Amino acid sequence: MRPVIIAANWKMNTTPADAGELAATIAARTEEPGVVRVICPPFVCLAAVRDALAATNVFVGAQNVHHEAAGAYTGEISVTMLKGLATWVILGHSERRRDAAESDELIGQKLARAISAGLRPILCVGEVLAEREAGRAVEVVATQLRGALAGKDMEALLSGGFVIAYEPVWAIGTGRTASSDDAAAMAEAIRATLSADLHWGEAAEQVPVLYGGSVTKANIGEFLAEHSIDGGLVGGASLKPDEMAGMVASAAITAKARADAEGRA
Ligand code: 13P
Repeated sequence: MRPVIIAANWKMNTTPADAGELAATIAARTEEPGVVRVICPPFVCLAAVRDALAATNVFVGAQNVHHEAAGAYTGEISVTMLKGLATWVILGHSERRRDAAESDELIGQKLARAISAGLRPILCVGEVLAEREAGRAVEVVATQLRGALAGKDMEALLSGGFVIAYEPVWAIGTGRTASSDDAAAMAEAIRATLSADLHWGEAAEQVPVLYGGSVTKANIGEFLAEHSIDGGLVGGASLKPDEMAGMVASAAITAKARADAEGRA
């Protein structure tokens, strides 16, 4: 059974002075059984958030990491530096593909580096609007997956808890979501790509796929109702405790329904 995950991507918001308090408030308001909660603050807020969450079971994630182990890379952060600060990491977010020109190949190198350091990666994929309108969304996402994952150690990725987030770029921060049908179809297409193109076979079914893009407590239920979708990667709404409480409460209902179904099977 795949876990149900709600991951908060705080992007370039919060400061070391206020992040800990926000994280603690969210943790206290989202104590629901069966849901994996992750908060990904900016690098400089990781220590404050780690400390604030120390007595909870909320995980801390980074929003990026460098693909090399160490060296002359001014302004960059390595996996070694994240040790003790974060246990998860978001990779290949569309804002980094756009702003830092991250390629699929580079993202694949980051993925391998993260896995080897014991960081649990959330690999982001998704098409831009013109690609969806041209009927190319599945092809674009499959290309991103092949580019990042070809030649990677499937067993290491699976045992490292590898997660994929489908985030259509046109749905991020726009208030416009994908339809739950389209998101579910993409989650299936993602697993089909892993299974067939990347030769993961049945193991593809083990990979959690999250939906991201204008997720709120009001709409997350539609996505969680889809069997192929295992939670959300949330931006704007993840900075609001009330929204997080609502989203995690919805996710807990899904987690319980899945556990009950598994128990009956
Ligand atoms: P929003 O929830 O603000 O649309 O952002 C989604 C996202 O990019 C999460 O990584």
